[in-house]
Amino acid sequence: MNAPPHRHPRPPVWDRFVRFFHWSLVACFGTAWWFTEHIGLLHKGAGYAAAALVLARVVWGFIGSPNARFANFVPGPRGLLHYLGLLLRGREPVHTGHNPAGAVMILFLLVAVTGIAVSGWMLTLDAFWGNEWVETTHTRLVDLTVAAVFVHVLANLYGSRHPGNGLIRAMITGHKSPPPAKPSPCTRTDTPSSSAS
Ligand code: HEM
Ligand code: HEM
Repeated sequence: MNAPPHRHPRPPVWDRFVRFFHWSLVACFGTAWWFTEHIGLLHKGAGYAAAALVLARVVWGFIGSPNARFANFVPGPRGLLHYLGLLLRGREPVHTGHNPAGAVMILFLLVAVTGIAVSGWMLTLDAFWGNEWVETTHTRLVDLTVAAVFVHVLANLYGSRHPGNGLIRAMITGHKSPPPAKPSPCTRTDTPSSSAS
């Protein structure tokens, strides 16, 4: 049987909101991290914006597209251990959405950014102004998150070695492999390719 002339393009792995959320979070976190010389509007504004993004992502985790939903990617302990066992042997399966190890990292990053923003906000209150443990919590959490982001990026590069699993490209375009080209009604497919150079 002949293939239908028009195929619907595949839905993206990551919907627009997830992609917007991700790169906005990177920008907000980076801005707050960079502007610490004077803890002013840029630092606090970017920090609060990061927290607002995380809050919106949590809501999206319940109502968003299937791959964005927590119920579809947060692993149980057994699933996580099984995946880690395969990962250590270099035999991990490729997942359409987040893999179980990536999911744990993602949960950590969401919680850590929230903790950073809450501790930062606490530092602006009279009750905690200059409080040493809140300051330490804020800066240690930032250091821990920056270290986790390094691991996160390395893990994404490692996972991208599988053919057709371009994780970073997917977070930009939404697709893990190029979407199927829509055959144009004007394109003839029966002409032999030209060998002229
Ligand atoms: C401040 C820095 C970063 C933070 C806080 C962060 C956080 C996150 C979060 C929360 C997700 C889950 C997305 C979702 O499901 O909504 C995610 C996924 C992802 N991030 Fe980042 N990220 C950071 C930097 C980066 C950078 C620099 C890259 C690439 C160069 C990157 C590549 C990715 C990719 C490819 C995924 C999808 C992973 C998968 O397919 O399982 N991230 N990141
Ligand atoms: C979520 C992203 C955030 C990041 C990456 C971040 C990062 C940092 C870093 C690295 C420092 C240490 C500066 C230094 O000691 O030189 C710092 C300090 C501080 N941050 Fe944030 N921050 C964030 C959010 C916030 C928010 C939302 C607020 C408050 C509205 C805030 C308020 C403060 C204050 C008051 C200090 C000074 C603490 C001190 O005196 O040691 N931060 N932040």
